[in-house]
Amino acid sequence: MTDPLPTSAESRPAARCPVHPGAVPLEGDEYRQNPAQLYRRLRREHGSVAPVLLDGGIPAWLVMGYSEVHYVTSHDELFARDSRRWNAWDAVPDDWPLLPFVAYQPSALFTEGAEHQRRAGVISAALDGVDQFELETRCRRIADVLIDRFAGRGAADLTADFAHPLALRAAVMMAGMPVAGEDTEALVDDLRMVGDAAEGEDPVAAYGRVGARIQQLLKEKRAQPGADVTSRMLAHPAGLSDEEIVNDLIGVVAASQQPTANWIGNTLRLLLTDDRFALDLSGGRLSVGQALNEVLWLDTPTQNFIGRWAVRDIQLGGRHIREGDCLILGLAAANTDPQIWPESHVGAAGNSAHLSFSNGEHRCPYPAPLLAELIARSAVEALLERLPDVVLAVEPEELVWRPSVWLRGLTALPVQFSPAPLSTS
Ligand code: HEM
Repeated sequence: MTDPLPTSAESRPAARCPVHPGAVPLEGDEYRQNPAQLYRRLRREHGSVAPVLLDGGIPAWLVMGYSEVHYVTSHDELFARDSRRWNAWDAVPDDWPLLPFVAYQPSALFTEGAEHQRRAGVISAALDGVDQFELETRCRRIADVLIDRFAGRGAADLTADFAHPLALRAAVMMAGMPVAGEDTEALVDDLRMVGDAAEGEDPVAAYGRVGARIQQLLKEKRAQPGADVTSRMLAHPAGLSDEEIVNDLIGVVAASQQPTANWIGNTLRLLLTDDRFALDLSGGRLSVGQALNEVLWLDTPTQNFIGRWAVRDIQLGGRHIREGDCLILGLAAANTDPQIWPESHVGAAGNSAHLSFSNGEHRCPYPAPLLAELIARSAVEALLERLPDVVLAVEPEELVWRPSVWLRGLTALPVQFSPAPLSTS
């Protein structure tokens, strides 16, 4: 597979730092535990576009205004996706922790214009072929198998035991791999390591193994096509090369698992901690839908997305953005922008105009948001049906958010319940 790092001086343009006094490091305790508070402060001090410092003091702009994020994502000709444009590459060390998200890769994520339309068109068509009724049934079965593993214990951590493995298995299954078996378990574990390596684990080696397994999957599906995303990508008239399909398939699986897992986890947290939902837990399909939507407004799984790179010098939110500057889409901040919520009231009910799936050409591609909702809804409903008296095992204030600037998800969601029988499915 192609080296994800820009290697030549040519592809690492000279740094031109947009930092001015007051640039804020996008990290620390305030950020981790209460990002909404940090966004409010940044908005007060800097307006809708704030100068920030990423890991190691690397400068970028955090775009927090709803209309500014909308503008940036609607104008690819001004704010583009190919990160090789970055004017700060010289300042980025080779072991920078954000490289997996930012370093150019030959996948649809980093392509632009007609080439992006070609690649994203194939992804959308392949996802559009997913049978939604079957997906729901199969997700329900995955949920049952995972719940069976802890149902008798009366206690579980719903992030590690449920939300994350479920979202991963759903992604692997849509790609056309069996949901059970040693091979799948190994892939699921490697995918987890790529996004969330524990100490002592090697995410680069894991990424290599994922690539090799996906390559193998292509061979298998070419020999014996099935009703799955991989087979549909192979058969698409756009005629993508194997290398393009491997990269885009890794992109699809990686782009789906963490956000969907955190959507499930954050929704379960809301249902278990907020009295407004407690009354309806056992019967309330409507409540689950409302909770899923509210999470997208207030605790969205992809809280910040890196990013876009300015194609030329331009003004945005009163800031002078220079060619090659990096802009972070502040999706969580944009969703709670007081300009769209008078008197600080964020009313999510019945309103899905949030930016949680981004916007414009590179938005989360149709029908991925629908599939993600189906997976998340089946998971949450299955859990509430199987464990009707589930409650938090700690005080709500003891729940800890993961120390990520990009994703919003809990480190653990410990719960208790009456031990339940195994499923019959
Ligand atoms: C079945 C589950 C999902 C799949 C298959 C999926 C797939 C993808 C793909 C392929 C992209 C890259 C699009 C491109 O660059 O052209 C993408 C982008 C994105 N997705 Fe999803 N996704 C899923 C779930 C989610 C969820 C649950 C969220 C958050 C609530 C989310 C938020 C985003 C965002 C913010 C982007 C970045 C868009 C941008 O660059 O502006 N996705 N997704």
